[in-house]
Amino acid sequence: MQKPKSTILDIGFGTAVLTSKLYEHGHKIDGIDFSLQMISIARVKMPKANLSEWDISKGFPQEVKGAKYDSIISTYTLHHLTDEQKISFIQQLLSLLNDEGKILIGDIAFETEAQLEACREENKAHWDDEFYFVAEKIKTMLQEDCQCEYTQNFLRCTYFY
Ligand SMILES: C[S@@+](CC[C@H](N)C(=O)[O-])C[C@H]1O[C@@H](n2cnc3c(N)ncnc32)[C@H](O)[C@@H]1O
Repeated sequence: MQKPKSTILDIGFGTAVLTSKLYEHGHKIDGIDFSLQMISIARVKMPKANLSEWDISKGFPQEVKGAKYDSIISTYTLHHLTDEQKISFIQQLLSLLNDEGKILIGDIAFETEAQLEACREENKAHWDDEFYFVAEKIKTMLQEDCQCEYTQNFLRCTYFY
């Protein structure tokens, strides 16, 4: 929201709950998602956005090659990629950023491998086999490519009976 009318690429926009807020504020939205169902829901909310059907495990699509973005955002999508796939994909995304551009990733993430393992152990009965971010590992793998910052946010849900 900081830069008016900025160019934004959303990876895995889903039903556009988050991206449509940016769209409504006048930002130019391009998006990638491999679900036609998600695309049709998002298109109703963002009729002028360029939404591409594409599986990001194959890299990025022709539609965004050569494009430049102020921000590339992705929420709750990149944990479907292995760490090696994440790094290769992020390295490709860096070439799509304008000067001062940023990639903002919101996902299930842990500061350290030990924290991930402790959480997995505590929740093994209902643990999904996905590839959650470990900040220290991702930072090390990307240290030659870009500056990474990690912030942990907690969502605390309380049930009322
Ligand atoms: C949990 S939803 C998140 C949606 C949205 N970003 C949000 O935060 O509300 C994950 C989205 O990523 C998409 N997705 C998952 N794996 C993908 C892949 N390999 N290529 C493209 N899209 C993918 C799914 O279709 C889905 O729309």
